[in-house]
Amino acid sequence: MEHAIETFNLTKQFKDLTAVDHLNFKIKKGEIFGLLGPNGAGKTTTISMLCTILRPTEGTATVNGYDILKESGEVRKSIGIVFQEPSVDDILTGRENLQLHAMWYGVPKETRKQRIDEVLKLVGLESRQHSLVKTYSGGMRRRLELARGLLHLPKVLFLDEPTLGLDPQTREHIWEYIERMSKEKDMTIVLTTHYMEEADRLCDRIAIIDQGRIVVMDTPEVLKGSVGGDIICLKTAVTDTERFRKITSVSNIEVEDGYIVLTVGNAGEHLQEILNLAGKVESVQIRPASLDDAFISYTGKEIRPDSGEGGIAQRIVREKTLR
Ligand SMILES: Nc1ncnc2c1ncn2[C@@H]1O[C@H](COP(=O)(O)OP(=O)(O)O)[C@@H](O)[C@H]1O
Ligand SMILES: [Mg+2]
Repeated sequence: MEHAIETFNLTKQFKDLTAVDHLNFKIKKGEIFGLLGPNGAGKTTTISMLCTILRPTEGTATVNGYDILKESGEVRKSIGIVFQEPSVDDILTGRENLQLHAMWYGVPKETRKQRIDEVLKLVGLESRQHSLVKTYSGGMRRRLELARGLLHLPKVLFLDEPTLGLDPQTREHIWEYIERMSKEKDMTIVLTTHYMEEADRLCDRIAIIDQGRIVVMDTPEVLKGSVGGDIICLKTAVTDTERFRKITSVSNIEVEDGYIVLTVGNAGEHLQEILNLAGKVESVQIRPASLDDAFISYTGKEIRPDSGEGGIAQRIVREKTLR
């Protein structure tokens, strides 16, 4: 078995809505694979089918070599799941939650204690293992869920929006744990996210998914590279933007809210030239292309639901205001 996961026209129809539309992808063993897309793109539905929680209306997939339709029991035994909805029990301690899960998953009695100790250590919850979960912070709960997902040594771990709603510091911690799990346990990890920086930071490969379809699939580097360089955002009195076409490394020109947004092969090299053409410049911002830009260039829209409406220019304004 070469691949940890392979899908064959995997499809889910809810009445007249095609939530997941004939997906075909392969995930290599040991890879951290990200499904990146806006709310409603079909991410949760896709991994729910792979976890055998939902049945596809068409197509199928294999997980660890087992068919999700014909061998769902084998699939379930070989995977770990950490879903969006919190599912650890509040009125038990962290350790009790893990004990319960170990029994359910048939972790042999002899190794149970050792496994629990190990996963508690991995997610840094040893010192709080005997506290009731209801006293845990959001980040600690998420870590406990990660620990639980790992308890039975799954070959593939599914994480649905692992850092949704967590503060930046806790998010950073969870990222570190995910990276550590991937390295130390040589596990295949499939995660969904609508956070660009999360996908960029963690994933070996990313499938950008929109309206149930894969728009593009590649490494974060290639996706960012496909945008064609850096982004320069200018505020100037000049309205004729065609003049920038003279510079051959300018691959895209857009005007948004009075800003001229240029995609430039190598911004540093061409900045003076651009400024010369731009006349009196009120403000200028330069940054490397991000996955956001890749998403916009592939789908024509922004991914972040929390960023509101607006494109690159607005985002720069927002980011400036945030600083
Ligand atoms: N049980 C369901 N019944 C009907 N529609 C659903 C159901 N679950 C999800 N959907 C719809 O399918 C689409 C994909 O949902 P989902 O997979 O949850 O997206 P994501 O996880 O990417 O935000 C959405 O339009 C959602 O409203
Ligand atoms: Mg979801």
